[in-house]
Amino acid sequence: MRIVVTIGGSIIIKEYNHQKFEDYAEILGSLKEQHEIFVVVGGGQPARDYIKIARDLDGGEAHCDDIGIDVTRLNAKLLIMALGNNAYPLVPENFHQALEYSTSDRIVVMGGTEPAHSTDAVGAILAEFVKADLLINLTSVDGLYDKDPNKHQDAQLHENVTATNMMEFLADKDVKAGTYEFFDMTAIQMIKRSGIKTIIANGNYPENLLNALNGKIGTVIIPE
Ligand code: UTP
Repeated sequence: MRIVVTIGGSIIIKEYNHQKFEDYAEILGSLKEQHEIFVVVGGGQPARDYIKIARDLDGGEAHCDDIGIDVTRLNAKLLIMALGNNAYPLVPENFHQALEYSTSDRIVVMGGTEPAHSTDAVGAILAEFVKADLLINLTSVDGLYDKDPNKHQDAQLHENVTATNMMEFLADKDVKAGTYEFFDMTAIQMIKRSGIKTIIANGNYPENLLNALNGKIGTVIIPE
């Protein structure tokens, strides 16, 4: 299978150390034996810190996004380092490059591309571009709940949600640099228009990548 995996920066660089990069490199390396893998990594807290400085300098939102993109690419470089020979050594800056680098039969790791969306959208566009069979979005929550699980103990995880319902859920969410909440609207539009099978799952435990792949965890987005 051709799989695009997005890993939120809030997961991979949560602790400001190498551990999650190494753990993910091991699991991604094992998946590479059977699948063709593309990875998109987010910026996490370092991106938000840098964006805040840019915003305080009156940088403007697109420049703030641009700073965020640079940080996602730094995280991509670290994951490439952790993957060693399993990864193509350069970070693609656009989707054509991602496709080109994938001819090496190595894992391609990228960060952001251009302003006005998050790496969730990069993952969805990349999945369209390379005609992926599956998009796995690893984030810091278990999937989509019926209400905020941080505020409500009885919140229930949705096993499935249609793209249309996701859009309704996302309609009033913030789209400023560094604050593309839970899942971004561009991503969901791509998923819907191209019928991309997508799973959102908790990536705080890297082995969850395998669990998501086996359909054991997360919320499946039905592209309709
Ligand atoms: P993300 O928001 O995708 O990373 O990128 P994150 O913070 O790791 O995401 P989660 O919350 O853990 O899932 C960081 C910032 O970089 C800019 C945006 O400002 C985004 O908030 N960015 C990223 C872009 O403008 N374009 C891109 O293609 C990617």
